[in-house]
Amino acid sequence: MTFDRAARESLPTLPLAASEIPLSDPLPSPVPLTGARREIWERALPYLDVRDNDAHSLYAFALATALLHALPGAREDVVLPAVLLHDTGWKTVDPADILPAIAGRAGPAGQETIRRHETEGAAIAARILAEVGYPARDTERIVTIIDGHDTRRDALDLDDAVVKDADKLWRLTPHGLRTVGAWFALAPDRTLRFVAARTYDRLLTEPARAVGAALTVLARTDVSVQRSGLNAPSHNE
Ligand SMILES: [Fe+2]
Ligand SMILES: [Fe+2]
Repeated sequence: MTFDRAARESLPTLPLAASEIPLSDPLPSPVPLTGARREIWERALPYLDVRDNDAHSLYAFALATALLHALPGAREDVVLPAVLLHDTGWKTVDPADILPAIAGRAGPAGQETIRRHETEGAAIAARILAEVGYPARDTERIVTIIDGHDTRRDALDLDDAVVKDADKLWRLTPHGLRTVGAWFALAPDRTLRFVAARTYDRLLTEPARAVGAALTVLARTDVSVQRSGLNAPSHNE
């Protein structure tokens, strides 16, 4: 069944004044990229201009801050730099090899490509963290987490689990689904099936599974709303 949007009754707009909008809200905000994190991010950026890794890393960073909120046992001084640096190694891989490796089409060579982005990323992270004078103990943990963030299924500890979950959860966000859909020329419904099948079972923490389930339900609803023709109102929201 489709709906004639033009025939639907629309409400007259009621512009709100700035004074009617609260200046802040009680919801958690992303941790700001300041201090040592800013220095790490600026040094990581030249390695993140492939595969949308710059935006991917920022979304994963935001998701990691939300997971840290729910999992106070994880250490943000390890988790957040690891998230910012985890995909720097893609810069050292031939761009033509990336999508066949991710799709699983390239066989053992693809597995080597994926492994290479981990080992090279670990080396780049070690160099950047040394340059900014990051504590040696945290650096060692961050480098270990990056070296295996995709190929190691199980987490070494809670910090590792939060990094893995923030990275994988990105795929189910609107930006993740748009990006993956564009990589593989997939319509939104197929993108969601492709992504959900390789993501949900790999989430390691309870809060990440809850966020993953909510994102999946929202994405499914998006697909069915698009199909039904019941699109969001076109006036300013
Ligand atoms: Fe990765
Ligand atoms: Fe990633």
